[in-house]
Amino acid sequence: MKKYFHPFTTVTFLIISSNVAVIESAMTIQQLEYAGKAMRETCKPQFNVSDEIIDGLKIGQFPENDDLKCFVNCMMELMLLMRDGVSNIDAASKFFHLLPEDLREPYSNGMNACKNAADGVQGKCEVAYTLIKCLQKKNPVFAWP
Ligand SMILES: *[C@@H]1O[C@H](CO)[C@@H](O)[C@H](O)[C@H]1NC(C)=O
Repeated sequence: MKKYFHPFTTVTFLIISSNVAVIESAMTIQQLEYAGKAMRETCKPQFNVSDEIIDGLKIGQFPENDDLKCFVNCMMELMLLMRDGVSNIDAASKFFHLLPEDLREPYSNGMNACKNAADGVQGKCEVAYTLIKCLQKKNPVFAWP
């Protein structure tokens, strides 16, 4: 059995639950961290990326690395920010209420500032990477799991 089955199930459950509005209240920082960790452990084995290179995203290190770009796309699909190679930010905004309250405004502002950033960019991994670069710049509390 692949070891990322369990976390993936958890993330899927969270996403499906929030989709049908079972989860009405905001997630705690701990729950977000847990979900984020599960997402990383789901996507990381699919690409040649190290924890060091992933952690560089948090501090604005965006090397030209195709595995890293596609890892970012994988994560953004799980976060519902990407869908079938295009930005899904507008649709994802209905989940902002799940964020802790003090994070909602900076995230919402960042998403609004970046939702068209990847217009005209070709390829789902390039689109995802362009969006994450913009979000890292425009959101002062940007965090990356
Ligand atoms: C994985 O990435 C590292 C660092 O970028 C590289 O040196 C190595 O050749 C890659 N391995 C494979 C199997 O692509």
